[in-house]
Amino acid sequence: MSLASILAPSLLAGDHANLAASARSAAEVAPWLHIDIMDGQFVPNLSFGPEVPAALRRAGLKTFFDTHLMLAEPQKYVEAFAKAGANNISIHIEPAYDHRATLARIRELGCQCGIVLNPGTPASAIEPLVALVDLVLVMTVQPGFGGQPFRTDMLAKLGEIDGWRKLRALKFRLEVDGGVDLATAAQCRAAGADTFVAGTSFFKAADRAAFAKAFAAL
Ligand code: DX5
Ligand code: ZN
Repeated sequence: MSLASILAPSLLAGDHANLAASARSAAEVAPWLHIDIMDGQFVPNLSFGPEVPAALRRAGLKTFFDTHLMLAEPQKYVEAFAKAGANNISIHIEPAYDHRATLARIRELGCQCGIVLNPGTPASAIEPLVALVDLVLVMTVQPGFGGQPFRTDMLAKLGEIDGWRKLRALKFRLEVDGGVDLATAAQCRAAGADTFVAGTSFFKAADRAAFAKAFAAL
């Protein structure tokens, strides 16, 4: 039995001069909001700090905050994002830090935890951690920027990770991020994904409610 599909619009593609309005527009139609945090080191771009989710909570946003830390030293910031109202905090496998301890710390802070891998990172890199997480995020673009084309070569990686999940009866969500629209999401769903980050495709959709409905039906 596969998990029901979840759409997580990505705030990065929203209006940075009016993030609350963009977050509300997403929350009206989608259960999760994806919040990208970039440090200019692990990825060549900067985005939001913990004050953004904290301010969105103060502005009344109650949606599930799916927080994607693209940071060289995420262990230093998990507490700040938990306090800022994150529901899930996902950390990358690529930088060198204590992944297990950081995942445990995220749980201890009362959040769900996720592990993320870049397109160039083989699935085997996260294999020892999959029993410890609530979510595995497979990047379907090189992280750092929205609006990049979906990498079809990541579908096999999704299938591999979904295979472990079935074999070991694990319960983590399998999320994709980067170049996801309705067509690429359908391919990801067929390969085992159940959670879909959509930045450009969501905020550019002429009818966001119809867009979200189509995702929910995947
Ligand atoms: C990329 C970010 C994504 C980004 C996706 O580094 O992790 O979440 O917002 O944007 P789209 O959907 O436009 O590819
Ligand atoms: Zn992301």
